[in-house]
Amino acid sequence: MKVVSVVGARPQLVKLAPIAAAFARTDHQHVIVHTGQHYDADLSDVFFSGLGIPDPDVHLGVGSGSHGTQTGRILEAMDPVLARENPDWVLVYGDTNSTLAGTVSAVKQHLKVAHLEAGLRSFNRRMPEEHNRVLTDHAADLLLAPTGEALRHLATEGLASRSVLSGDVMVDVCLRIRDAVLAGQHPRPALPDGVDPDAPYLLATLHRAENTDDPARLAGLVEALAGLPVPVALLAHPRLLARAEEQGLKLAQGALHIGRPVGYAAMVSAVLGSVGVVTDSGGLQKEAYLLERPCTTLRSETEWLETLEGDWNRLVPDPALLGPAEWTRTATRPAPETPLGTPFGDGRAAERVVAILEERASLETPA
Ligand code: UD1
Repeated sequence: MKVVSVVGARPQLVKLAPIAAAFARTDHQHVIVHTGQHYDADLSDVFFSGLGIPDPDVHLGVGSGSHGTQTGRILEAMDPVLARENPDWVLVYGDTNSTLAGTVSAVKQHLKVAHLEAGLRSFNRRMPEEHNRVLTDHAADLLLAPTGEALRHLATEGLASRSVLSGDVMVDVCLRIRDAVLAGQHPRPALPDGVDPDAPYLLATLHRAENTDDPARLAGLVEALAGLPVPVALLAHPRLLARAEEQGLKLAQGALHIGRPVGYAAMVSAVLGSVGVVTDSGGLQKEAYLLERPCTTLRSETEWLETLEGDWNRLVPDPALLGPAEWTRTATRPAPETPLGTPFGDGRAAERVVAILEERASLETPA
């Protein structure tokens, strides 16, 4: 069997790691195509080196642009690559512009598409990720759902016959790296200046367009984080730095200390060292859950409803609406005593994905 994985943005590289490792234990041919959506070393290269992913076989080098430009460039560059490779499966990951473009190029060439992390929904039609995941699910031939909740969404949309519960490959990688960090196999991460790794701190990230691109909203979130009574280590995505600069907004103020994005093991280590996480990232909400740190999510909805169980994750659409005292109590609340469940699977999802692809490689594309 030959499978082409299409990746391009940071969270896809994390999901690619356990899949590439699972393929490496088989005789199947696994071709990695990197679209170049993320090109900064700390959003891309560190994940290949840090997670032991083989170098991409093809790099499209498309870079940034408006949604249409970026998606269109990937689509155009992908066509000849997929025509040449002619794989049994094109495997797309998550919900980025690279996911959608890889899917469209493949289905137009009658190549079978499998969507890893299918069925997630925010039901917020303004999010670019929501467009990407809904369109991808409806175009793909095989939908690999990470959770029972995701499987239910797919069934509701009439996609049950193409859907399989595979479990979440992020559990595979997160638990493996957690164990390595706890065994001392990775150096402690450098936190931003002013954050003592041995004293309580919160770990924060902020990069969603709905939080960064509206100046009033971004200023309100920064003010809320800066006003917290514990140091906040904010590992800033380049989009956040770019928007803050355009808006003339100073990020380093009050409790807020700004650092660069870090590699995966450093992120896991920084979460483990923290008293809690504040974020708008989907992946980090789940990593906080798996690593047993309370998470506060700066959004009105989450695709990972399971993390809300037992108060491990709490949604805060706008800290200003809570008022300073309640916001502080929320963001600094201790870890709940409620035991964690295992809604994301057993950490062996990648092997299962490879087995499912193999089982269905010879089947005709469903009508
Ligand atoms: C993308 C995904 C998002 C995912 C995120 C993870 C889409 C629609 N969104 O958002 O789902 O959570 O990746 O990080 O695909 N930039 C750089 N260097 C880079 C890449 C981007 O400086 O290597 C800057 C550019 O100013 C660019 C901006 O970040 O315009 C946004 O990048 P883009 O790829 O459009 O989306 P992300 O915000 O990273």
